[in-house]
Amino acid sequence: MRLQKYLSTAGVCSRRAGEALIKEGRVKVNGDVVTEMGVTINPDSDQVEVDGRPVKTVKKKEYILLYKPVGYVTTAKDPFDRPTVLALVRDANVRVFPVGRLDINTSGLLLLTNDGELANRLTHPSYGVEKEYLARIHDIPTAKVLNQLARGVQLEDGMTAPAQVRLVKGGRPTSQVSLTLKEGRNRQVRRMLEAVGHPVVGLKRLRFGSLTLRGMKVGEWRRLTAEEIRALRQAVKVT
Ligand code: URA
Repeated sequence: MRLQKYLSTAGVCSRRAGEALIKEGRVKVNGDVVTEMGVTINPDSDQVEVDGRPVKTVKKKEYILLYKPVGYVTTAKDPFDRPTVLALVRDANVRVFPVGRLDINTSGLLLLTNDGELANRLTHPSYGVEKEYLARIHDIPTAKVLNQLARGVQLEDGMTAPAQVRLVKGGRPTSQVSLTLKEGRNRQVRRMLEAVGHPVVGLKRLRFGSLTLRGMKVGEWRRLTAEEIRALRQAVKVT
């Protein structure tokens, strides 16, 4: 995009006035003053300043909730060319990125957004946003094991924080347990259950903060409602 168009898109001034600012040497791109006309910039990667103040374009914020199926990776590009969650929301026609991650073999609720500030807070452990999972595990866990999961399990990257744990359905060869965590380490649920001797055979995220999968089918996506966005922002104190 041309620099003067960028300045007008960002609401700094008109395109004509932008040309004047450039000629006067008041505009910097990536730290260097630009005085010639016709310079193009990449709004996603170049840093533009006017009179030493950064210029930001206001992008429309998008919030998409996806019911992720098993078999999709939560990265933008997969070195093994496996299908990505971004491919599932392509028809939304927006550039969004996943908030946190679900393993390829985990299904369930995944939020995607271009709201970086909200995404950072939602994944930061200090805000303690609850993530609820339903795990199918080998065998029936004893009350002692459930207690241990709730109090904390020693993993190679440290002790896990207290969690809510409930036996949903005990059975053989598999049982179902619900775990609600306030942290989100890599493969945490699988590692916790493995550590207490009950490997996971299936994992689904049912809830992320106030968001649930209610009414959705696997593979579907939808935009959040204004009320859902407001509740998320309030939960992590984004004003
Ligand atoms: N915990 C896991 O083990 N996997 C996930 O995908 C999410 C949480």
